[in-house]
Amino acid sequence: MRDLLRQADAQKRAVGAFNVSTIEMMCGVVHAAEELQTPVILQVAQIRLATTPLPLLGRAMYEAASRAGVPVALHLDHGTTFACIQQALDLGFTSVMFDGSALEMEENIAKTRQVVQMAGRYGAAVEAEIGSLGRTESGEEVAAAYTNPEDAIAFAHETGVDALAVAIGNAHGVYAGTPTFHFEVLDAVRAGCDTPLVLHGGTGSSEANFRRCIESGVRKINIATAIFQATARAVHGVQGEDWFAMSRAVTDAVTDVVKEHINIFGRA
Ligand code: 13P
Repeated sequence: MRDLLRQADAQKRAVGAFNVSTIEMMCGVVHAAEELQTPVILQVAQIRLATTPLPLLGRAMYEAASRAGVPVALHLDHGTTFACIQQALDLGFTSVMFDGSALEMEENIAKTRQVVQMAGRYGAAVEAEIGSLGRTESGEEVAAAYTNPEDAIAFAHETGVDALAVAIGNAHGVYAGTPTFHFEVLDAVRAGCDTPLVLHGGTGSSEANFRRCIESGVRKINIATAIFQATARAVHGVQGEDWFAMSRAVTDAVTDVVKEHINIFGRA
């Protein structure tokens, strides 16, 4: 992931990070990346492992990434336990997120540093989060708190993370209308550190918001809900009980969603 973010920075674009939880979805992501010859990040959030265990899904993701005709980074999204992060590293994930955003700053720093050490043994990169998005990856509503730029800069320097997720008015899931993002937060963070920034809650953010985020240093953009919605629509759109038609429809629908986003985020 480190290399992909560096390349994206040089090309003033962002790498799409697409959440998956089935083989059809991962095939859709890889097809899109190959068609557009643009590297992507294939990721799964820890919360999703309740339905698809990491040893199964992670191995399939590893194979999908290894066989792809473009570089594909393998990422654990919203890792909250060291055990899960360790398992992802053992499976060959090239980066992990430690989400300590609900913790006090000092504890978030201390735990993130531990994860940086763990990942360092594998040469893997680490993403962390500071500030709180209004809605979690599983849809739970929590108090939103925009990232404080001074805290973010101190956090980046003290932890040495490779990517930093910030809260600027973004939230996971479906927005009611186009969200208002606080780009001044991104600019203020960037003035004090050169850590690539990450936008969570990509679905429905608007093309203009994506472009403006990229101008202000966002180099990784997460898309999950759009993929899951396209998947559900594709399944419902197939008449009858032909599972294999559904499977093909899901892969095609995910390919379309991913291509649409890569075309906005920028092609390599
Ligand atoms: P969306 O589900 O809003 O696209 O957010 C994805 C995300 O940030 C995953 O961490």
